[in-house]
Amino acid sequence: MSWKLPLFKIYTDEADLQAVTEVLRRGTYWAEGPEIVEFERGLKDYQEKKYAVAFNSGTSALHAALLAYGIKGGDEVIVPSFTFIATANAPLFVKAKPIFADIEEQTLGLDPEDVEAKITPKTKAVIPVHYAGCPCKIRELREIADDHHLLLIEDAAESFGASIGDKKAGSYGEGGVLSFCQNKVVPTGEGGALVTDSREIYEKAKLIRSHGRQENSAYFSSIENLDYITLGYNFRMPSMIAALGIAQLKKIDMLISTRRQNAEYLTARLEKEVREITPPAPPEGYRHVYQMYTVMAEKRDGLMRHLADSGIMTKIYFNPVHLTRFYRDILKYTPYLPITEKVADLALTLPVYPGLTKEEMDLLVNEIKTFYELN
Ligand SMILES: Cc1ncc(COP(=O)(O)O)c(C=O)c1O
Repeated sequence: MSWKLPLFKIYTDEADLQAVTEVLRRGTYWAEGPEIVEFERGLKDYQEKKYAVAFNSGTSALHAALLAYGIKGGDEVIVPSFTFIATANAPLFVKAKPIFADIEEQTLGLDPEDVEAKITPKTKAVIPVHYAGCPCKIRELREIADDHHLLLIEDAAESFGASIGDKKAGSYGEGGVLSFCQNKVVPTGEGGALVTDSREIYEKAKLIRSHGRQENSAYFSSIENLDYITLGYNFRMPSMIAALGIAQLKKIDMLISTRRQNAEYLTARLEKEVREITPPAPPEGYRHVYQMYTVMAEKRDGLMRHLADSGIMTKIYFNPVHLTRFYRDILKYTPYLPITEKVADLALTLPVYPGLTKEEMDLLVNEIKTFYELN
């Protein structure tokens, strides 16, 4: 379907094209090129962490993080259900059990109180999500993790650039996971990364990323017989994707400020003119980057249909993970998550991408008003 107003559009320019073209023209090192290390350097500096490891997706970065931290069968990992399914699947991939905790309504991230209530002797880690680009109550979660000697692995897939004060989302945990999928703040098509301050985890993550191969020299250009010292995957990011990441990362301030300006404009109009909608309202000092602009909307499903009929794409992010067929019917999950279920019945994600014009935002708000006038 072609939308008059899609849910997201990628911002790209000549510098992106040039960066990728250079790698293509080089005709070599399309894998394991120097761009990988350069992109990783940019990521760790931006996050103010010691190390970053690039992956081919946020999902593989999550999986590798749990492997690197030694999460295994018999362990429990506390996760939100109001998230993309990859957050909850990551523990399953290492044979651990995801345990769902509820969210709180201010940031739509994990509710620290419910997290504490879900801790058992088997709990090894908590994976909070900074939903839509709004930091969750990560400082409170950090304290709980410290008190109970748990690992905190932040799923910052949606929140690259978000912060509380000066401290970035994804830098509070032992590990932080980023995603560069096409609808994210810094998009490269597909891609992800793990950031950490631990040299040991950094080394392990690199082994897991590439078949457990000990890379004393460059695999593709060395005659040395490199050894394999653990089990690993091919989770590597291609060089042209890293080149694109470097070029996109240079634009991050502009990408975030335009998202924030668009969100501000939408919020001002919706707050004043549409009482059936509650716009996002991050706590004081929380810097939301609006990877998504999610509102709570009365008669949500009707509104989504009306907007779709008018050529405007919106979407429900997220139907709770515990209510998917896989978790509900096959894994037999029946957690009590009242806030998650209430929020998921009202949540609607509207377009907010860089490049969205004032006229387009006016069209969106006017169509929302038309729906509520008619219904
Ligand atoms: C919260 C969350 N976690 C993990 C992921 C997975 O990232 P990727 O799509 O790069 O595998 C996403 C992105 O879709 C996400 O939104």
